[in-house]
Amino acid sequence: MVENHLGPIAATYDELQSLPTLGRTQERYFLRPSSAAAVHRAILQSVEVALYNTTDLLNRATADLVRGDLGCASLKMGWIYGFQRILTVLSLTANQAPLTNAKKTIHIGESKPYRLTLEALQRFDHAIVATVPKERLTTVLGSGNLDESTFRVLHLSRIASHEITIWDHALSQIRISAHIGYDNLVCPEIIEAAFQDRSLKGDTYFAQFRALHQIPELVGAVLAAHLRVAIQLLSKRRYEAATLRLRIANLLSAIVSACLRPLIEQLVQADYHRIRENLGMTSGSHSAILHDQLLTTIYEQLAGDVASAARTDRCLPLRRLMEECQTFRVFVHNWRAEHLHLPRNNLGGDRTRSLIGSPDALKAVETMCRAAVERDPLRIGENRGSADVSQSLTAYLSGEASLDRLILRHAGDATKSRFPHVQARIGIFSKTD
Ligand code: HEM
Repeated sequence: MVENHLGPIAATYDELQSLPTLGRTQERYFLRPSSAAAVHRAILQSVEVALYNTTDLLNRATADLVRGDLGCASLKMGWIYGFQRILTVLSLTANQAPLTNAKKTIHIGESKPYRLTLEALQRFDHAIVATVPKERLTTVLGSGNLDESTFRVLHLSRIASHEITIWDHALSQIRISAHIGYDNLVCPEIIEAAFQDRSLKGDTYFAQFRALHQIPELVGAVLAAHLRVAIQLLSKRRYEAATLRLRIANLLSAIVSACLRPLIEQLVQADYHRIRENLGMTSGSHSAILHDQLLTTIYEQLAGDVASAARTDRCLPLRRLMEECQTFRVFVHNWRAEHLHLPRNNLGGDRTRSLIGSPDALKAVETMCRAAVERDPLRIGENRGSADVSQSLTAYLSGEASLDRLILRHAGDATKSRFPHVQARIGIFSKTD
């Protein structure tokens, strides 16, 4: 195994995200991937991933507080809040009508990381009370602002706390459609192993970076299974049954989108640079689900089949199916548009190479976005990226006069100077695929 001063350097995307470990779930207890129980499995496994990360972040925020570093603690609080938002989306999805079926009720209190989160939260609360004297609280809360660390910690803590109560309530009784217990459904020892599989030394957001890939992989696998069934049902003109599968896919897509937000909002270039070498020659474009299936082959086949059915048939059930397909289509293109934040924020522009060697990472992602729109069987003339007269703001922002261009150029310079070996394809980055 190749290592640097922080720990292992990933050889493959699958290894980086512990996909072989996560894949052991089906051997441990098989569930048909397109079943409602498999959807609950993916959701609850994702909940466990999010809870392990919440515990990790709370423990590290507590350590920051004990050191008297409220600034650092406030950064962890931003991530903690981000994970609570994802937990809320997961918990609301778990209770959506097409998925619930009263065969058995389970609750999140059975989960080990849930109990760990409670203990970590109690330690964090004690540390806050020990750090910020009670007599200061009224003044800080009443007149403080987000530019002050103490206020930020308290404010983010209170919104994270309220968010916790929302998902805690929603996950207190989940009606699932199989007569199996929590352990066989969730296979928690596999999630724990996947969390512990790989870590780095020091105060990094590597675990969180992995979690925000792992959740889309877990949820994406069942989402893809539902879309495949929808395609088969459509070929048999069973439009209503296909529409139900698409509704489930659309519900799950909200989780995949939610996972981008903490990376967009909390991960800064310096955080990403700290862990970048340990990612090795990997990329989300190696992702088992998103790139290889969901956003490409499966969506394109579905959209093509729906478009050709609509040319000969105009019945109401097919129109409803078309509406669900349009909703999924919006997710596909919007996910790509939002993912663009990540190379923009963490790599920058001006021929900054990606880890796998794309000569201009940002242009590579922009080209992937444009190509996807052009290939889209449901395309109705739009072309993201080439601003016409009705997009003067976009035209200005992509022009040389804008601050956005200046920031992109300097962000790119920072990446290129910190990673000359990635840029020049030397050392561990000299291998070709
Ligand atoms: C700091 C975070 C990230 C950066 C800097 C980044 C960067 C990139 C880059 C440069 C590419 C183009 C291929 C290449 O040269 O590597 C790419 C593609 C891709 N990435 Fe990311 N990425 C990030 C996070 C993610 C996450 C969290 C996911 C999914 C959970 C993801 C999924 C993908 C997918 C699916 C593609 C292919 C895009 C397409 O088909 O249009 N990436 N990414």
